[in-house]
Amino acid sequence: MTDHPAPKHAVRAAFDKAADGYDAVATVQRAACDRLLSLAIDAAAARPAFAPRRILDAGCGTGYALPGLARAFPAAELIALDFAPAMLRRHPPGLARALCADLEHLPLADGSLDAIWSSYALQWCTPQRALPALARSLRRGGQLWIATLGPGTLAELRDAFREVDDDEHVLRFEPPQALVDAAEAAGLRLIGSRRETLRAWAPDLRSLLADIKTLGAHQTGARRRPLGKSAWAALGAAYEKHRGPAGLPASYDTFWLVAEKG
Ligand SMILES: C[S@@+](CC[C@H](N)C(=O)[O-])C[C@H]1O[C@@H](n2cnc3c(N)ncnc32)[C@H](O)[C@@H]1O
Repeated sequence: MTDHPAPKHAVRAAFDKAADGYDAVATVQRAACDRLLSLAIDAAAARPAFAPRRILDAGCGTGYALPGLARAFPAAELIALDFAPAMLRRHPPGLARALCADLEHLPLADGSLDAIWSSYALQWCTPQRALPALARSLRRGGQLWIATLGPGTLAELRDAFREVDDDEHVLRFEPPQALVDAAEAAGLRLIGSRRETLRAWAPDLRSLLADIKTLGAHQTGARRRPLGKSAWAALGAAYEKHRGPAGLPASYDTFWLVAEKG
């Protein structure tokens, strides 16, 4: 098992710093959550006896998913977990019990959850550690609803940096199959999946990079030399090749997975 390339303490610090500005730029994250909610509602409806009473949002961030989950599953108690305290402080009041913890080491009893939701958080984790932890807390017949990022994420930025130097400037996320394999090895059965590239747009490279930083997604874990003036110019010119009518795109290779514990 290899560690995720971005060290956990750096990811946590980046999200703690990002919390205040996060909601203003998280359009793609919202779209991924909205899609996940409809998949979750469909998966729950497909099992008429399934009435979740305890749902965990693992890596809940500022809590965008909570009102939707509360509306869709009004009988359920919601637990909102994140390891960045500043994210938890931004939650809408009264919707969920906040828990500051690492989702790879859940401080919850085995089989104590009916469903687990996780949107755009698992890409920061090691699937072989996170999936067993989530599966353990789920009761038999419980459901897992996930949206995560795949290796095509920020592909334009990776391409553009290739024209600048050989350093690794952009995080490389695991292919969806790694998540599927880890889920199955943890005793979960896949009941649905979907993959699509969602795009955010920015007027110029400076704002695009600022948005990525605000989303906490700039951590690579690699130590890099600062870019010089000519390197910035080369990066800007390379990125311009991707410009479309809405501006410069940032791709988010998004994978949705729905599974159930056997
Ligand atoms: C991109 S944000 C997504 C937040 C929210 N789910 C959304 O869709 O807006 C990822 C969140 O996952 C949290 N996170 C990442 N790794 C985590 C871990 N191992 N344990 C707990 N939280 C984690 C981060 O602190 C951050 O708040």
